[in-house]
Amino acid sequence: MKKRIQLLAVIYLLLPIQGKSQNPKWEVVAPGIWKTVAGVPEKYDLLKAAGVQSNLEALTKLGNADFPLSPQEIVAEVSDGKTALRFPLVRGEQLYGFGLNFKTVQQRGRIMQLHVDHYGGEDNGRTHAPVPFYISDKGYGVFVNSARYIKVYAGTAVRKDSPNAPQARDRNTDRDWTANPYSDAVEMLVPAQGVEIYVFAGSTMLDVVRRFNLFNGGGCMPPRWGLGFTQRVRALFKADEVIAEAKAFADKGYPLDFIGLEPGWQSKSYPCSLEWDKSRFPDPEGFVKTMKAMGIRLNLWTNPYVSPASPIYQKLVALSGSHKVWDGLVPDFTLPEAQNIVAGQLRKNQINLGIGGYKVDECDGFDGWLWPDVAKFPSGNSAEQIRQTYGVLLQKMTTDLFRQNNTRTYGLVRASNAGASSFPYVIYNDFYSHEDFITALINSSFCGVLWTPEVRGSSGGEEWVRRMQTVCFSPMAMINAWADGTKPWSFPEVEKEVKKIALLRMQLMPYFYSEFAKYHFEGTPPFRAMNLEPGFGTQAVSELKNTNLGENPYALSVTKEIKDQYMAGEYLLVAPLFKGQTSREVILPKGKWFDFYTGKYAGDGEIIKVTAGLDHIPVFVKDGGIIPMMPPLLHAPASGEKFDLEISYYGSKPGTYQLYDDDGETFDYEKGSYSWRELMVAPDKKGKLTGTISKANRGKPDNIGKVTWKILADSN
Ligand code: GAL
Repeated sequence: MKKRIQLLAVIYLLLPIQGKSQNPKWEVVAPGIWKTVAGVPEKYDLLKAAGVQSNLEALTKLGNADFPLSPQEIVAEVSDGKTALRFPLVRGEQLYGFGLNFKTVQQRGRIMQLHVDHYGGEDNGRTHAPVPFYISDKGYGVFVNSARYIKVYAGTAVRKDSPNAPQARDRNTDRDWTANPYSDAVEMLVPAQGVEIYVFAGSTMLDVVRRFNLFNGGGCMPPRWGLGFTQRVRALFKADEVIAEAKAFADKGYPLDFIGLEPGWQSKSYPCSLEWDKSRFPDPEGFVKTMKAMGIRLNLWTNPYVSPASPIYQKLVALSGSHKVWDGLVPDFTLPEAQNIVAGQLRKNQINLGIGGYKVDECDGFDGWLWPDVAKFPSGNSAEQIRQTYGVLLQKMTTDLFRQNNTRTYGLVRASNAGASSFPYVIYNDFYSHEDFITALINSSFCGVLWTPEVRGSSGGEEWVRRMQTVCFSPMAMINAWADGTKPWSFPEVEKEVKKIALLRMQLMPYFYSEFAKYHFEGTPPFRAMNLEPGFGTQAVSELKNTNLGENPYALSVTKEIKDQYMAGEYLLVAPLFKGQTSREVILPKGKWFDFYTGKYAGDGEIIKVTAGLDHIPVFVKDGGIIPMMPPLLHAPASGEKFDLEISYYGSKPGTYQLYDDDGETFDYEKGSYSWRELMVAPDKKGKLTGTISKANRGKPDNIGKVTWKILADSN
């Protein structure tokens, strides 16, 4: 159960405020999390926008920790109406996070301004989720709770009085002269007269991330159907075309759980009327029912800008910003009255008809497509603060609406920020670089958000299948055909391979569903960077004696950014191939790893070269890995519908896995209506590895039918 965070204890540090020294306090807000206040913080901030309720119970389970930094080395000073912050860095320390980056994973040495925007091809801080949170490989994290554009110098600036100041060299004669001298601090400038700062401890970086996510309320818990396959149809599709599309999926044997309608479901967009277009959808209620009867939910595209043709336009005029976007009103969602008016329209016109969720578009940028920073809002919150939090406000408002009906939702959003981990939304964008999309998937795990490397079009079959393979190993398996009208079978030369990966996505549903439950209850990101894998990057320092990168993967993991392989859940390591590649190197962390498809031993703490035809994406399983799978159903099992499990075991050593189960559709899990079942593989009396599953919990949802085991033991 979630409780409001309580103050548990207090420690002190010397922090100069307004240029003078004071004794502000580091308060323990939960085990392993501390907070302090510099200057006078603003009334509106990131955590307030998200209405964060920390999961104190889970944080308590993670246990106490010592303050991970030297308090004297953290400095804050308010001057010129801004707050300057400084945090120490030591030699060799690496930093991760600072929001949803697309090109870089390691952030030490970078300068950025954290600013909600559409990613434009450069990691300069302008991104869909510019979360002001970073993690150090020394085992701590820092979060600055401000809804302002924060300037970050992540180990770039050199102070005159630094005890670690580098020696000046002579560029004329010194070949080792460096234009980027050593810096011993992260410095930030917050354009406000004060700010709250949080520090997170962790014996590993993963523990830091868990604490951050649990502090934000834990990760989201999607409905089971949210982890199935989704297709977004062409912008102006009509009801009968959508029905025909769903039929085609069924006839051809492709899985499909929800269909996304793009702008054309609305009578006007953009700006949006938030009303069905009666020429394309003459009977919305009947249409939603027909789709549901086919096992398909609907996800509706919208952006937040309200058209003069909308029935709620007049009521919103006084509750909107001074400037228009796409010629529509920009509701001030920090005002409850504005939220109520829009929420009322969504509830009456869409949610009560039974739609499954929204795609909340255009709440990020680019600048020319948003309100300017000079805009005024009736709440008195600044244009800047509203920009930094608009996506979060929309996620919260719509999540609450579905909660009121006790039905879970799972949707898409283009802007987010700190505090939003518990909202069931996945970020996407228009950039469409496969490589950058995978880097974003990796970075999403450092900042408490989810990301989908959506698939749209392709230059040919090879790219199509490679993109499909990665999107099926991501939080949302989606084709976004709003412009191209592509279908999974659009490239006949790879139709078989595409179907195979879409069905594998369905087979993995029990595994991914359990991994999302771990995100929710324990804060562990379901798709995450290799650097969060215990024993990957963090061991590197002690292993650096052998710096031959070919022989020492740990050296590689710290000296080079790992942007093209990632963990999917507890046991799977995914190594995508991109267009033009037939083989690649994979860094296997310490411990034995096995091929997901054959169970064969693949390596141990080494770099291997893999060759993969278009029929599969390289995936490896950690020793003792247990992967619960279901038959390749075309829809997620409905609430109460039993499904069989085929559980695969990999490796040589005994293993366990916690399998999660609930009704898959409601919020009853928040009241304890769920169960964990333990899967275990251990030697029997004769020494043969054998699998067992613990009994279903009495009185709790139980969807598991027949269980069979596939023991892919390889004693190598
Ligand atoms: C874009 C969005 C696309 C699609 C399109 C429809 O802003 O990123 O995914 O929805 O709008 O007009």
